Amino acid sequence: MKLRFTNKPSKTALLIYPVFEKEAVRDAGIKKIFAQLTKEKEFEAKLGQTFFLFEKAKSLPAHTLLLGLGKPEKLNVSEIMSAFGGAVKQTPHHRPHTIAIILPLQLHKYMQDIVEAAALASYQPSAPYKTGKALKKLKEQQVEMFEVVGADKKIQQAARKGLVIANAVNELRDWVNAPPNFATAKFFDEKAEEIAKETGAKLTILRKKELEKLNMGALLGVNRGSPDEARLTILDYMPANTDPKEPPLVFVGKGILFDSGGYNLKPRGYIEDMQLDKAGAAAVLTLIRLLPKLNIKRRIIGVAPFTENLIGKHALKPSEILKTYSGKTVEITNTDAEGRLVLSDALAYAVDQFKPKFLVDIATLTGACMVALGDRYAGLFGNDKDLMEKLRAAGEEVDELLWPMPLHKNHSEKMKGVYADLRNADLGSERNAGASKGAAFLQEFVGKTKWAHLDIAGPGWTEDPKKYEHKGATGFGVRVLARFLEKL
Ligand code: BES
Ligand code: MN
Ligand code: ZN
Repeated sequence: MKLRFTNKPSKTALLIYPVFEKEAVRDAGIKKIFAQLTKEKEFEAKLGQTFFLFEKAKSLPAHTLLLGLGKPEKLNVSEIMSAFGGAVKQTPHHRPHTIAIILPLQLHKYMQDIVEAAALASYQPSAPYKTGKALKKLKEQQVEMFEVVGADKKIQQAARKGLVIANAVNELRDWVNAPPNFATAKFFDEKAEEIAKETGAKLTILRKKELEKLNMGALLGVNRGSPDEARLTILDYMPANTDPKEPPLVFVGKGILFDSGGYNLKPRGYIEDMQLDKAGAAAVLTLIRLLPKLNIKRRIIGVAPFTENLIGKHALKPSEILKTYSGKTVEITNTDAEGRLVLSDALAYAVDQFKPKFLVDIATLTGACMVALGDRYAGLFGNDKDLMEKLRAAGEEVDELLWPMPLHKNHSEKMKGVYADLRNADLGSERNAGASKGAAFLQEFVGKTKWAHLDIAGPGWTEDPKKYEHKGATGFGVRVLARFLEKL
């Protein structure tokens, strides 16, 4: 999607015209129509309600979609994004290529959210794969231009920022939706190279040889079933005038390109969408990509371990004992608890190598977190209240919600090994507190570094999309982390 600023919506545009409940409509041209619709209870401007007008109001474009916003004093970001996302999703039936919008004064502060919602809603998950007629139809329905009518400089800037963020999130959705024969380790090498070029970040990609030298036994262990080498991809963003001695902020993302479960193979119903298991890593790469565009002037490092988790004659087996980068040993009680293994090496390496001011990891770590919180909230864990609260508050501002979860000594107890220092999955009480125990395992590898862990197994992927989402990858994580950094 692109943006255009105008004083008058173009004739061929579909105008989204927001209306509050019981409002005397601003535009004289539709005052009468609105009064009539309200009387007949056809359209009462309830939140999210829409009504399509065709050539009814002379002063407006032929295609105008009234969008109800309820009572202005009750509005928040989540409702705004849902309402505008829902309206944009309706446009394929009308005239989608250009959408125009006129914002009343009360909505000016939501400009960025509205553009984000519109661009996110216009995403087409299957566009990279359809051919022929189906592709043609998708192209016909694609929203290409978003016109903002009568915006001043400040609002224009907010709109531009929303567009940059949403377009990046849409591309991230493509990466996460992409099946493992498209989104390979090599694919992400190329993405990381593009991001390095775009942002000036320094790119390091550690492969098998280097990982062996560094004794990253956990990442290498998970990788053994895959024909492709594991990667530890590092993007070090150091904008001009930052002090190299200042401790950096580090973000680590889980990049399992396909999680079959390994020898603890996932059954039917649980394995089909496991390309989603790279959503954390993809979010971290996208976050780095946005830093210069958001004008963030700090040294920030993104770290992403990439591998598949497969079976095969070389694959990791239950009962094996791995030596991690940190020196701690782990007995494998379940090959399907692979995310914490790859993250253990990535986290310990980040702590050791970069001595971060703080560390945030983001991962589709546990089905248990999804069972606990569903697909609207990510689980929020950590060892630093202040860091956690800042993340939570940022999430609320952008409708990417995080819910604080417990991390107790008892959870750590359960992750102690019988033979080795640790085990990667609890045995005996494995159905209890799975998300907290996953977090407790990770905590073993961050030492005293301030750390937060976002378990996005629920909200990273959805079968029940929000109005500005689609089935499959949601792109969750980038907007909350970006907002968090902006406010720091
Ligand atoms: N990638 C999964 C978690 C997951 C499940 C993400 C569903 C998204 C949707 C993770 O690697 C996993 O398999 N976790 C296990 C851990 C268990 C074996 C301790 C789980 O949640 O069952
Ligand atoms: Mn798994
Ligand atoms: Zn996994």
